[in-house]
Amino acid sequence: MVRSPRPSPGGETENRHVAHWTRSTYSLSLLGKEVPLTSTRIQIRQLSKRYRGGHYALRDVDLDIGNGMFGLLGPNGAGKTTLIRILVALLRPTSGQVTVDGMDLQRDRHRIRRMVGYLPQDFSRFPKLATWEFLDYGGALAGLRRKRERRERVDELLEQVGLFDVRDRLASKLSGGMKRRLGIAQTLIGNPAIMIVDEPTVGLDPQERLRFRNLLADLARGEIVIILSTHIVGDISSTCTDLALLNEGEIVYNGSPTKLAHAAQGKVWKVVADHLQMDSLKERYAVVSTVPAADGYEIRLVAEAPPTVGAQLLADAEVVEPNLEDAYIHCMQSVGQDMSLEVGVEAQA
Ligand SMILES: Nc1ncnc2c1ncn2[C@@H]1O[C@H](COP(=O)(O)OP(=O)(O)OP(=O)(O)O)[C@@H](O)[C@H]1O
Ligand SMILES: [Mg+2]
Repeated sequence: MVRSPRPSPGGETENRHVAHWTRSTYSLSLLGKEVPLTSTRIQIRQLSKRYRGGHYALRDVDLDIGNGMFGLLGPNGAGKTTLIRILVALLRPTSGQVTVDGMDLQRDRHRIRRMVGYLPQDFSRFPKLATWEFLDYGGALAGLRRKRERRERVDELLEQVGLFDVRDRLASKLSGGMKRRLGIAQTLIGNPAIMIVDEPTVGLDPQERLRFRNLLADLARGEIVIILSTHIVGDISSTCTDLALLNEGEIVYNGSPTKLAHAAQGKVWKVVADHLQMDSLKERYAVVSTVPAADGYEIRLVAEAPPTVGAQLLADAEVVEPNLEDAYIHCMQSVGQDMSLEVGVEAQA
């Protein structure tokens, strides 16, 4: 079968033999050393989705995603799930184009679907099967026909996600965090080249959330694209090398977490305020955190200029180094999102 040439990361076209190569990272020989280069695996161009009723859930989205962990961050209703459902070919876009390893998502949807492991946002219902059986069943569906090979893979994955000791327990009786980890194991059973997880850490306790993040970070070291959608900034800071910030269907930032933090440089302040001043600051600025201190409250906030209460400058206000949470709030403020109610982004989750 003859297929059309695909654009290379450099923009020129190349033939399918070379395209096959994109399953691994490109590498460059420098003084005899192989230097891996991250190349685009998923290319999204001018992607829009308009739901019936006229609402645009996505508008002109352009993204390039390579191997490793890619964070898709945005508040509720930003369009994360819509984008993901398009990427896993469950939803057709209104317009625009997506290519995966050079294949067109619409034309090669069946082939691409087989490459993708997908953990949906609402993954919580399980049939009456033991944990291992559930995975075994998933393995059979993913095409692992040989029973012995499948069992070995199931055991390996149970170990990897820390569920080996509860393998005989009914999947439906696992805790919330364990269910998420089982979900990850299920998405991995067919050795996907791309893994997409939609809000996997919602509702997890801090310890389980950390465990989950570490699991994803370990996986991301392999030759795999992992797209992690979340509205929890902490999920991104510890794991992702590249991220996109989605707001009301539009990409408002795409790049590294470090670059995002850099943009908030000089805009993040630490002030000490009493109760009345605190109320005033909260009304006026995006307050990131409030910690009780001996002489009132230590408040971290985002402001373009030195913060004031009334017309009064706060004498002890000091600029602090922005972290990703500050940077997220700064970016959302700058696109007109009122973040003054978003106190404690992580704590809200
Ligand atoms: N089937 C649908 N029909 C009409 N509108 C929809 C449909 N699904 C989603 N929307 C709307 O599209 C927008 C984006 O929704 P989406 O679920 O993609 O956001 P999200 O970023 O995943 O949000 P959350 O963080 O709450 O999961 C929202 O305004 C939502 O109400
Ligand atoms: Mg969603």
